[in-house]
Amino acid sequence: MGVLITGATGLLGTRIVELCLQKDVRVKYLTTSKEKIVSKKNYKGYYWNPETNEIDTDCFKDVKVIIHLAGGTVSKRWTPSNKKEILDSRVISTRVLHRGIRSLPNHNVLQIISASGINIYPDSLTKYYNESETETDDSFLGDVVKAWEAEVDTFFGLNIKVAKVRIGLVLSNDGGAFPEFKKPTELGLGAVFGKGEQWQSWIHIDDVVRVFMYLLKYCGEGTFNAVAPNPVTQSELIKSIAKTMDKPMFLPNIPRVVMKLVLGEMHDLLFSSQRVSSKKIEEEGFVFKYPNLQPALLELLS
Ligand SMILES: NC(=O)c1ccc[n+]([C@@H]2O[C@H](COP(=O)([O-])OP(=O)(O)OC[C@H]3O[C@@H](n4cnc5c(N)ncnc54)[C@H](OP(=O)(O)O)[C@@H]3O)[C@@H](O)[C@H]2O)c1
Repeated sequence: MGVLITGATGLLGTRIVELCLQKDVRVKYLTTSKEKIVSKKNYKGYYWNPETNEIDTDCFKDVKVIIHLAGGTVSKRWTPSNKKEILDSRVISTRVLHRGIRSLPNHNVLQIISASGINIYPDSLTKYYNESETETDDSFLGDVVKAWEAEVDTFFGLNIKVAKVRIGLVLSNDGGAFPEFKKPTELGLGAVFGKGEQWQSWIHIDDVVRVFMYLLKYCGEGTFNAVAPNPVTQSELIKSIAKTMDKPMFLPNIPRVVMKLVLGEMHDLLFSSQRVSSKKIEEEGFVFKYPNLQPALLELLS
C-alpha cells in the first residue's frame, strides 16, 4: 500500500513514517523544504508550496491513503502574519491537495486522514465533549479548526473517505508543550497557570500515532477525538509532572493577566479548557497504551 504524508517531517509525522516503514507501507511525503527531500527505499519526498499552489502531482501515483498533518506552528506569537500562516498552512494546503487530485485523469486515493484539534470545542470547565458536539469555540484557534475541517470535508466530493482526528495535548519529549512544562519544573520552578481548573485532554505521543495507524488499517471514516480516556486539570498535570520528577512546587499560581502580557492572545493555549471524550475511538476497537496520566509521565520522564 502507498501512503502520502504531509507534515511528515514534524513531531507526529516522523513517528507515523517510522510505523509505516516498519509495516512495509510505502511512504511518499510532501514537504515545503527542498532540503528535506530524500529518496530511499519506500520513502520518497516531493516538494510543494501551498502558498503558490505548487505541487508535484507525481506524489499521488500509487497512493491509496493521504495522511494530512501539515500546519505552521501555533506556538509562535500570534501576530497578524503568524495567524495568517497558522490558518493558511492548514486550509490552503488542504485545498492544494484537493486541486492536485482533481487535476489528474485518474487516481487511486481511497481515504484521507487529517489532523484536527480539540480546540474546536467551546472553552468550558463543566462540559464533557464528544464528536457530535455542534457548537464551536469562538476563538482564533476554534475558527482555524472549523475552517480546516470544512476544507477536509471537500474530499467527500472526490469519493474519498474522510477521517478527521481531533488531537488533544500531545505529551512527547521531542516537541509540543510537554518540554515547555518540564523545563521550569526541572529547575524547581514549576507553577500552575491561573486557577489550574482548566481541563487538559492530553494524549501520549505513542497513542496519537497509533490512532492514525488504526484508522489507516481499518480505512476508518468520520471524526474522532484523539485524547486519553482520563483528562486532568492543569493543576493535576503540572503537579503530577513535578511529583514524577521528584521536584518541589512552591511558586504561586501564575495569573492569567501576567501570561496575557507575556504571550498576548497566544496565552489562550494555556488557559482554554476542553474536557474531551475518547469513547468513540474506543468503541471502534482502539485500545490505549496509556489511558492514565501517571504511567504516561513515568514513561516520558524515566
Ligand atoms: N502536537 C500537538 O500537540 C497537536 C495538537 C493538536 C493538533 N495538532 C496538529 O497536528 C498536526 C501535526 O502536528 P505536529 O505536532 O507533528 O506538528 P509539527 O511538528 O509542527 O509539524 C508540522 C509540519 O507541517 C509542515 N509545515 C510547517 N509550516 C508549514 C506551512 N506553512 N505550509 C505547509 N506545511 C507546513 C512542516 O513540514 P515540512 O517542513 O516538511 O513542510 C512541519 O514539519 C499539525 O497540523 C497540528 O496543528 C498537533
